[in-house]
Amino acid sequence: MHIAVIGTGYVGLVTGACFAEFGVDVTCVDVDAEKIDRLNNGIMPIYEPGLEQLVAKNTQAGRLHFTTDVREAVEQALVIFLAVGTPPKPDGSPDLSFIEAVAASIADHINGYKVVVTKSTVPIGTGEHIRKLINERKKSRSNFGVVSNPEFLREGAAINDFMRPDRVVIGSRDEEAIAIMKDLYRPLYLIEAPIVITSLEAAELTKYAANAFLATKVSFINEIANLCEKIGCDVHDVARGIGMDKRIGSKFLHAGPGFGGSCFPKDTRALASVARQFECESLIVDAVVEVNQRRGRQMLTKIENLVGDFKDKNIAVLGLRDNSRPN
Ligand SMILES: NC(=O)c1ccc[n+]([C@@H]2O[C@H](COP(=O)([O-])OP(=O)(O)OC[C@H]3O[C@@H](n4cnc5c(N)ncnc54)[C@H](O)[C@@H]3O)[C@@H](O)[C@H]2O)c1
Repeated sequence: MHIAVIGTGYVGLVTGACFAEFGVDVTCVDVDAEKIDRLNNGIMPIYEPGLEQLVAKNTQAGRLHFTTDVREAVEQALVIFLAVGTPPKPDGSPDLSFIEAVAASIADHINGYKVVVTKSTVPIGTGEHIRKLINERKKSRSNFGVVSNPEFLREGAAINDFMRPDRVVIGSRDEEAIAIMKDLYRPLYLIEAPIVITSLEAAELTKYAANAFLATKVSFINEIANLCEKIGCDVHDVARGIGMDKRIGSKFLHAGPGFGGSCFPKDTRALASVARQFECESLIVDAVVEVNQRRGRQMLTKIENLVGDFKDKNIAVLGLRDNSRPN
C-alpha cells in the first residue's frame, strides 16, 4: 500500500516513519522546503528517541520519502493523512486554514479512490467539512472516504506509543475506508492492540475528551496541592494514596506549575469552544482552564516568597516550549 502523510511535524514524521516500518510505502509532504531538505539529509527537525534510526532505516529501504510535491504524493497514495497544525485562534477555537489548504490540494490532484484521514486534532464536524470542500472543488469524478484517526502519542515516547498504542480510534461512515484503515493497521491488530471503530464525530470528540480528561487530573491535583499547603501536609502522599486506586490511576496526578506543552492548553480551550458551538455547558473544562491559569500566577507568588524581590535576580526556567512550532 502507498500512503501520503501531509505535514511532516511531530505527528506526521512519527506516523510516516512508523507506517514505513510496518512495510508501507510512505511519502511525507511538507510546505517547509528547508525541513524536507534536512530530512532528505537525515537531519531530524525534532528530538524523539529512536526516530532518527527509524527514518534512516526506512529511507534506505526505499519505503520512506520526503518531498514538497503534494501532487505526486496525492496521486500515488491510496490513504492520505492530514497531520498539519491546528493552532488556536484568539477565541480558543482551532485555526483550520492548514487543514483546508490540504483539502484543496487533495481536490486538485485526486485521480482515483482515496481515503482522506485526519490525524491532526480537529473540532467536531471537520471530517464532514473536508468532505464538502473536496466535493465542491474537485474536477475529477473520483470518489473518496473520510476518516478521523486521532493521534494519542506522547512527545518523548512517540515511537513506542505508535507501535504499541493503548488503542487505535478509527471514525468513519465509509465502509470501504474503514476496511482499508484496518488493513493499514494490521500489524497492530496482530499484537492485539484494540481498534475502536466509531462514527466520524465520536472519533473527533474522543481526542479532545481524552486530553481534557488528563488535563482535569492535573488541575485537580493542583487544587488538592493548594489545600495540602494550607493544611501542612504533602500532596505527594495524597497523590500516591489516591493513585493506587485502579479506578483513579496514578498517571497525571503530579502537582506542579500547571499543564503546558503543545496540546493541553489548546485542546481544553478548543473543547470549550466546541461546547459553546453546540450550545452546551462545559463547566468542568472551563474550571480546569481557570485553575491552570491561576496556578501559573500562584507560582510567581511562591517564588517571590522564597527569593524576595525579583529585581536583579537571574531566574532559570526549565521546560520552555519551542515557539517556532505553530501550536
Ligand atoms: N505534538 C503532539 O504531541 C501531538 C499529539 C497528538 C496530536 N497532535 C496534533 O497533531 C497535529 C499536528 O501537530 P504537530 O505537533 O505534528 O505539528 P507541527 O507544527 O510539528 O507540524 C505541522 C507541520 O505541518 C506543515 N504544514 C503546514 N501546512 C501545510 C500544508 N499545506 N502542506 C504540507 N505541510 C504543511 C508545517 O510546515 C509543519 O511542519 C495538531 O493538530 C496537533 O494538535 C499533536
